[in-house]
Amino acid sequence: MVNAIEWVDGRIIMLDQSKLPFEVVFIECTDYRQVAEGIKKLWIRGAPAIGIATAMGIALGAQDIKADNFKEFMKGLEPVVNEMLSTRPTAVNIKWAVERINIFLREKRGESVNRLKELLIDEAKKILKEDVEVNKAIGKWGAELIKDGNTILTHCNAGALATGGYGTATAPMLVAREQGKKFEVIVDETRPVLQGARLTTWELMQEGIPVTLITDNTAGALMKMGTIDLVIVGTDRTARNGDVANKIGTYTLSVLCKEHKIPFYVAAPLSSIDFSISSGKYIPIEERGSEEVTHIFGKCQIAPDGVRVRNIAFDVTPHKYVTAIITEKGIFKPGDIKKLKKANINLEEVRFKP
Ligand code: MRU
Repeated sequence: MVNAIEWVDGRIIMLDQSKLPFEVVFIECTDYRQVAEGIKKLWIRGAPAIGIATAMGIALGAQDIKADNFKEFMKGLEPVVNEMLSTRPTAVNIKWAVERINIFLREKRGESVNRLKELLIDEAKKILKEDVEVNKAIGKWGAELIKDGNTILTHCNAGALATGGYGTATAPMLVAREQGKKFEVIVDETRPVLQGARLTTWELMQEGIPVTLITDNTAGALMKMGTIDLVIVGTDRTARNGDVANKIGTYTLSVLCKEHKIPFYVAAPLSSIDFSISSGKYIPIEERGSEEVTHIFGKCQIAPDGVRVRNIAFDVTPHKYVTAIITEKGIFKPGDIKKLKKANINLEEVRFKP
């Protein structure tokens, strides 16, 4: 599996996911503005991956700052940070990365400017490395939910490409496979940008996991036929009460799951949980350009010229439709997620028992 993003010799190497699966093209970023452009244009996408890109983009931008002291350095960093924050609004991982870097720098304020620049690179690389470990832990917990012979449905791409590696929603599948379980995955195509059709199928096929692609409007029919045993999706931002923002169409799936008594699980690293907001109504929802809807890949037009379009990129699934949330600390009912913020809780007592 290729890496979505890497730091190599002072540059950021980003896989251009907008070209997958037809072309495997890497973009070399030597300027933080390219990284921000890459996030906006979905060359890199998926909440944890754009969090990592943010940290790396800040480290890259920091290298060109001319400053004599900490205060000047932090002032020089402001436009870099603001550029990264202006890219995409829904995934909390961008804000999470900015806050983590900010705390990190303040702890290191006694260091020289040159040393701070080096330390920022190390910290960005560390964020990537930790993300992979977090995903493996999500995989370990989540694999408990997958039984031999199951058919799992997933939406969008919450796989390795959306993260530092291993994925969030796909991690339980990878671990279940290592455990020798046999299962199949149904992938929603995920209009309009087709992350399911282009990316998730590509990833899972490379892993040798049996995969079937469906159009987004097929999920209900398959559930009614009894084909789907469970749903696992990722999240861009989960609120304190367990409301989950994820790719548009996730909410619809969750309601279908309720109707058909199918468990609906969300794989959420703690970096995607926004403990500062009490519910999903405070999650900013990205709306994107009309061309993603009226055209396939900006090439093939599928709607009349001038038609009015709404292209809402994410929706919010109310916590009442979420069976449980799989984190690196274990699996929890949505109502218990807020307890993860508290120190000294007995996780074993709080964990969800399937
Ligand atoms: O618009 P995208 O492709 O960035 O949307 C991605 C998703 O909705 C993912 O499910 C989410 O970011 C979780 S990725 C582990």
